[in-house]
Amino acid sequence: MNITRIHFESTDSTNAEAKRRIREGLKPDAADVHRAGCVEGTVITADHQTSGRGRFDRQWEDMAGQSVLASYILYPRRAPEEWGGLPLLAGLAVQRALSPLLPGGVQLKWPNDVLVDGKKICGILVESGMLGNQPWAVAGIGINVLQREFPGSYRYPPTSLLLERGQLTETGEVLQAVSMELGALYDRWQNEGSSFVIEEWKTHAQHMLPADIVLHQDGADRDVRAIGLAPSGALIVLNEKGEHEEVYAGDVSLHTGKETEE
Ligand code: BTN
Repeated sequence: MNITRIHFESTDSTNAEAKRRIREGLKPDAADVHRAGCVEGTVITADHQTSGRGRFDRQWEDMAGQSVLASYILYPRRAPEEWGGLPLLAGLAVQRALSPLLPGGVQLKWPNDVLVDGKKICGILVESGMLGNQPWAVAGIGINVLQREFPGSYRYPPTSLLLERGQLTETGEVLQAVSMELGALYDRWQNEGSSFVIEEWKTHAQHMLPADIVLHQDGADRDVRAIGLAPSGALIVLNEKGEHEEVYAGDVSLHTGKETEE
């Protein structure tokens, strides 16, 4: 996949901008300029978002210029049952891109958080749908790069590349590495499907597979044991009754004692 970058100093949300471009560009009578602005591999980036969004409609705040804020426009050819692999793929791309910079290791937490030493360095929001009969997806990635502190309260303790490395890294360098990894993983996924993603993803999630976790779903918390990943990308847990259950949506906290809930 060729990656073409469109950069904004400020926008509401790079995911929202990517979706607007998809909607405009896929209209049957769209002008060429609109079609060009939404080809697969277009990545919308920004120095700052005025209404960055996270999963479950949470806010994603940033200080201008301190993060990678990027949304990739994709047109998946795989069957919808396999799209659960896309958030995992995006997390894996970030894991691969950050690993050379962080020799202490970079972990993945289901479904798509990237952690360093138990702290969250990256959040991912994949949105997808159909326009007419054209499937589309936007993989939105926010990476903390230059933050020295994080005022406010967070569901999961945050960190940045600067805090973990103790040296400055350019956001452009991080974006380039992520784009390269995401492009390669996505091309392979389009051809082969999710199984190779799931296998590699699990190798970076050994801290939580298996582990006792708290599963947050629809406002309720459940104590379950995470034991694996299904071919769909769903988390396999042993539930309260000791039965295997596949979890498709939700949030997970590990029993590390490090969490600060809102
Ligand atoms: C999460 O952890 O809940 C996901 C956060 C995703 C944030 C990124 S920043 C770039 C893109 N634009 C958005 O509005 N959200 C994603």
